[in-house]
Amino acid sequence: MDIKKDLEELKNRALEQLKDVDDDQGLEKWRVFYLGKKSPLNQVLRGLASLPIEERRLVGAMSNDLKLLFESNVEQKRLSLYSSAVTTLQEKGRLDVTLPGRPVAQGRLHPTTRIVRQICDIFSAMGFQVVEGPEVETDYYNFEALNIPKDHPARDMWDTFWIDRKDENGERTTLLRTHTSPMQIRVMEKTTPPIRVVVPGKVYRYEATDATHESMFYQVEGLAVDKGVTFGDLKGCLYEFARRLFGPERKARFRCDYFPFVEPGVEMAIDCFVCAGKGCRLCSNTGWIEILGAGMVHPDVLRHVNYDPDVYTGFAFGMGVERIPILRYGIEDIRLFYGNDLRFLRQF
Ligand code: PHE
Repeated sequence: MDIKKDLEELKNRALEQLKDVDDDQGLEKWRVFYLGKKSPLNQVLRGLASLPIEERRLVGAMSNDLKLLFESNVEQKRLSLYSSAVTTLQEKGRLDVTLPGRPVAQGRLHPTTRIVRQICDIFSAMGFQVVEGPEVETDYYNFEALNIPKDHPARDMWDTFWIDRKDENGERTTLLRTHTSPMQIRVMEKTTPPIRVVVPGKVYRYEATDATHESMFYQVEGLAVDKGVTFGDLKGCLYEFARRLFGPERKARFRCDYFPFVEPGVEMAIDCFVCAGKGCRLCSNTGWIEILGAGMVHPDVLRHVNYDPDVYTGFAFGMGVERIPILRYGIEDIRLFYGNDLRFLRQF
């Protein structure tokens, strides 16, 4: 029985060689040699057919056993190579599997994003749709259609970043929007009443920056237009908004203010949430904090978008977003918002 002896020898040789294997490549070579297509074992199996029947059975069974033995040895060797690699790393002091994992730094929302979302959520719950618009605007939407013609002194209320140069007529048409109000026009142009929208977004002012002025900040605009919308609707809606954002005990105050695109125009204040109206540093001892501008949409603005002011009325409002966290958290410098200093941003 030569073949039996051959198989026995093959087994001893193979296992002896496997002992010397000390890395993954070596193991793979061994596996290909002893278990691959051209392995001695396969050659034996291929020769089986020419053997007498009893011998064929015996040799067949032996070769299969050997194949299984080789396979299980490969797996064992693989495991032992892996665990000795880990031990080596441990001994070198590089890996201590008992250490707690390193925490992954958690991201968070920018304070402006959080307030914008809160504001939009409150108005969404009241049936307002959230829409956005372009930051590069035209003179028409930013001023003209909002009842602020060229050379109108009210243009001084918004120091403007112009994008194009004056043309031969001395006129410029493209600018960075100075407020979100141009979206009032864009929305009215595209839809028919009833309209209820809020528009969050960036606005730009050509100003020297200091602790209370940034050249870019966020506003949220609001617009509601329908038959029979009244100043009472404006007050009720904005009062409810203030109570939802600043707490149910807040009081609101409306005083006359001027914006060319509303009539009458108002400024809305809430009683100071630090001193509840008694007077403190936050409210400059007035007891009141101004939070937004608003008013009834000017009839001329409605005419600009071909709405009949005898049929439709509406109210609009606009508020600065950063002002809210500035008041709430006592932030002393608005430039911190977009200075990208993580020590500031991580506090929220
Ligand atoms: N757009 C005005 C501003 O930026 C705010 C405002 C909006 C006032 C809507 C009234 C109505 O100052």
